[in-house]
Amino acid sequence: MPNVKIDPNDIMIELRGLKKSFGKQNVLLDINLDIRRGETMVIIGQSGGGKSVILKHMIGLLQPDGGTVTVDGTTISTPKFFDTRTIRKKMGMLFQMGALFDSMDTGENIAFALREHHPELSEKEVQAVVTEKLKLINLIPEFRTKMPSELSGGMRKRVALARAIALSPEILLYDEPTTGLDPITSDVINDLIIDMQEKLGVTSVVVTHDMVSAFKVADRIAMLYKGRIIEVGTVEEIKNTTNPFVKQFITGQRKISTEIHPVED
Ligand SMILES: Nc1ncnc2c1ncn2[C@@H]1O[C@H](COP(=O)(O)OP(=O)(O)OP(=O)(O)O)[C@@H](O)[C@H]1O
Ligand SMILES: [Mg+2]
Repeated sequence: MPNVKIDPNDIMIELRGLKKSFGKQNVLLDINLDIRRGETMVIIGQSGGGKSVILKHMIGLLQPDGGTVTVDGTTISTPKFFDTRTIRKKMGMLFQMGALFDSMDTGENIAFALREHHPELSEKEVQAVVTEKLKLINLIPEFRTKMPSELSGGMRKRVALARAIALSPEILLYDEPTTGLDPITSDVINDLIIDMQEKLGVTSVVVTHDMVSAFKVADRIAMLYKGRIIEVGTVEEIKNTTNPFVKQFITGQRKISTEIHPVED
């Protein structure tokens, strides 16, 4: 577990009674979740359960059918009022597909939002920020000239992370940051998630299927099941859960790893 001080009463993101349907499909029934300032909250749950939909509500890409999203004391999202400006300034997101602009080199990808939001910055200042963000993800300044097509999957995720932190957000949302990566590359990403929390003091929400990653980066874990958050707890609490659905989800993951490494158990 990361080593930062967290005040349990200082709530950065508050979801209350969140509801969302797509046509006849009721995806979120009643989501209630508090994310504390500075913590890393990991959301786990079945594929297609609505984890990405929850993240998209936090960053204002989706509007709820009912309930509220409150970020740092401001209700950004009610069915009547939808404030995306507040959110965009505060949040960075690493999308599930880690999308980069393929026609732009790494440096331009990182600089993109910066140029848009801060037209007053000189070219020299923009390049200085790009260097600083590359450094934060442990890459040398010369890396800026690499094109996305030259990058491995893990490197693309790292560059996408540098892009997500370009505007120095207070909140970082990660959608499946380690999916599709080998265990060693996944662990580089896990370390970067912890680094962002420790060095930048960000509040993080990580959606993942990868329980190794979840147990490593989380301060707390929330389990989504059938449209509701059925349990929230620390890594230890989740590992020792008595909730049969949470247990089954975690054990299911363990079974996969014991099949690959039978000597471990
Ligand atoms: N914009 C949309 N329009 C219609 N249906 C959608 C939309 N976004 C999500 N859905 C549906 O909502 C459900 C939940 O989707 P979501 O992507 O949040 O699942 P998930 O938990 O992130 O799954 P995975 O682990 O596979 O990424 C899915 O059935 C999906 O098809
Ligand atoms: Mg998803």
